Amino acid sequence: MGARIIGSGSYLPQKCVTNHDLEQMVDTSDEWIVRRTGIRTRYLLEPDQEPARMGIAAAKRACEDAQVSLETIDLFIVATNFPDMICPGSSPFIASGLGLDQTPFFDLKAGCSGFVYGMAIADGLIRAGLYKHILLVGSEALSRVTDWSDRKTCVLFGDGAGAVLLETGRADEGVLGSAIFGDNDKALLLHMPAGGTRTPADSSTLQQGGHFLKMEGAGVYRSAVPMMERATREALAAASLSLDDVDWLIPHQANIRIIDSLAVRLQVDKEKIITNLDRVANTSTASIPIALDEARQDGRIKSGDVVVMTAFGAGVTYGAVVVRI
Ligand code: UT7
Repeated sequence: MGARIIGSGSYLPQKCVTNHDLEQMVDTSDEWIVRRTGIRTRYLLEPDQEPARMGIAAAKRACEDAQVSLETIDLFIVATNFPDMICPGSSPFIASGLGLDQTPFFDLKAGCSGFVYGMAIADGLIRAGLYKHILLVGSEALSRVTDWSDRKTCVLFGDGAGAVLLETGRADEGVLGSAIFGDNDKALLLHMPAGGTRTPADSSTLQQGGHFLKMEGAGVYRSAVPMMERATREALAAASLSLDDVDWLIPHQANIRIIDSLAVRLQVDKEKIITNLDRVANTSTASIPIALDEARQDGRIKSGDVVVMTAFGAGVTYGAVVVRI
């Protein structure tokens, strides 16, 4: 039997940055940002706050929501692209903050699709009977890799974390189907040039801003809609369901125009689409679990609802997962 969601939690930092605040930093305007992206505010870590605090808080809330004690978790996965440290990642720091003493953990790096990849992988591990309770966190401190002088990227991102606790479910609940894909020709559409082993950080990479996220926005934009459409259709086919069976669609929260185009291509009613990017912006691997948690907690998503989550991101990766809550 596959993985069902028995709890969710999310965390956003306190500091709220508006588009008007960004007008003071780069040559942009609230009008441009809202019209081109739909984003109005984002929440950012303070410089002295450790990124792991976000994953710890979201995971604690998911465990409280599930009313499951931490000892029952037998695998812990953190989907993140910009970990607390390149080595050993984020998962050991979040595990330590949670008090997960003996639980195995690992980081999963699959662009902004990391949470969807994580759901598909966790479902497979649960189906194989290898684990019974998997804690999956999406956590991203994008403000730490953002070039705050580059108006093409700095207006898009926010920090945050979301988490779900997964347990072995019955045949008719939990993950009903999933589909994940990759297109390595587009590896450089979104990348950080320096700081890895190909180009280790030194004073010249620092001077050139090689440690900041670079993005070819229009290229990502063009790919995003057909990729999420394909993934959604294939995950539904794997679940033997159609778009008519879907109660809620939670797309990766990158740009409202991408989400609107996806809705048109899939012919999904806008009322069925959960968005929060106007408030939280693009939080990469955290975007879907934050939106999912908010909609579960405010009562929009109810037990028995069929939810499709779909994402695209650096790599490029893309995918979708169909879940009965
Ligand atoms: O998780 C995945 C992460 N990435 C994404 O999802 C990004 C996907 N891409 C997008 O969302 C859009 O491509 C952007 C929002 C990044 C850009 O929107 P666009 O409609 O593709 O604009 P553009 O890049 O074609 O730029 C149009 C103009 C340019 O000026 P010129 O060359 O026409 O004079 C840009 O320099 O808008 C300018 N521009 C801005 N102006 C004001 C770019 N950023 C800004 C800005 N404020 N922040």
